[in-house]
Amino acid sequence: MSFAIGPYRLDSRVLLAPMAGVTDPPFRSLCHRFGAALCGAEMLTSDQTLWHSAKSRRRMDHRIESGIRTVQLAGAEPAQLAEAAKMNVALGAQIIDINLGCPAKKVCDRLCGSALLSDEPLVARIFDAVVAAVDVPVTVKIRTGPDSATLNAVRVADLAQRAGIAAIAIHGRTRAQRFEGQAEYDTIRNVKQHVDIPVIANGDITTPAQALAVLEYTGADGVMIGRGAQGAPWIFQAVNEHLGKVKKSSAPVLQDLQDDCAPIILEHLESLYKFYGEHTGIRMARKHLSWYCQRLSLPAPARGELMAAADSASQFACAERWFGGAHQRRSMIMTGT
Ligand SMILES: Cc1cc2nc3c(=O)[nH]c(=O)nc-3n(C[C@H](O)[C@H](O)[C@H](O)COP(=O)(O)O)c2cc1C
Repeated sequence: MSFAIGPYRLDSRVLLAPMAGVTDPPFRSLCHRFGAALCGAEMLTSDQTLWHSAKSRRRMDHRIESGIRTVQLAGAEPAQLAEAAKMNVALGAQIIDINLGCPAKKVCDRLCGSALLSDEPLVARIFDAVVAAVDVPVTVKIRTGPDSATLNAVRVADLAQRAGIAAIAIHGRTRAQRFEGQAEYDTIRNVKQHVDIPVIANGDITTPAQALAVLEYTGADGVMIGRGAQGAPWIFQAVNEHLGKVKKSSAPVLQDLQDDCAPIILEHLESLYKFYGEHTGIRMARKHLSWYCQRLSLPAPARGELMAAADSASQFACAERWFGGAHQRRSMIMTGT
């Protein structure tokens, strides 16, 4: 069953997790096309004095956005977050997401993200201020708590619901865990049992089977995939097929999608060059190409050549050569030739 965030009924139950430096508009558009119902944007500081940077300006740019336009704000001062939310709605944001999940102690020199989870009264003031400031849905992304001794996600979710927050996403790790250990889903399940607003489960979901298992175990309305989508934007289609949301193509679906990946990767490169320009475009592309190489098990020289390409034309040509041959190489491996 799909669910709604405010007035927006989502097409499916699988969402792209926000990742700074990864979920830029080109990648979000690609994931949306493959069926990610909502694509989390990279966090933006609520401190407007820092918005002149190219990075911040890009994070407010929705021109090529094909899905629902979200902006995720990181900050610690309720009034500043409220003002930043208003400005972004004026610039086209359709959902404002509050970042209470980033494990870094300071973001842009200010205490924010999951560091705020230990100050519940402040969290409540932030929720109230942002919800009152805008007439679009406000969502929040949290962790399970500051540390294993203080798993306060249920209390934070309760504060969110009381304040009128439209949905809550929970990464199943504490702040102290950063990205270590395994995500746990018991706390997410507890949250789901305590609140009525949509709950989105996140953490270590990398396959369609895991997505289904987490949905069933937690009772969550949706799942959010982050690192599992790096170099694999097609994972959303595979998950949707597994959940019965879209018609199944021949199994195994992930393999089929990967076999047809060359045009997708090349289109991704083109949109990165266009969005960032030549200089930053090839640098951003290197990161994604490296993930594509891993996913498709390309041989080491492929990665080496792709990383060494110094301009977009040679990078593109190199990608065309290596990824265009991915299907053929895979057939050779599979038939043992
Ligand atoms: C490179 C990277 C950047 C991230 N940036 C953000 C961010 O800007 N905002 C946020 O709420 N979470 C951010 N996260 C956390 C992810 O949204 C997600 O909660 C986490 O990666 C766990 O999900 P996964 O196991 O599916 O990757 C980031 C994670 C990674 C790996």
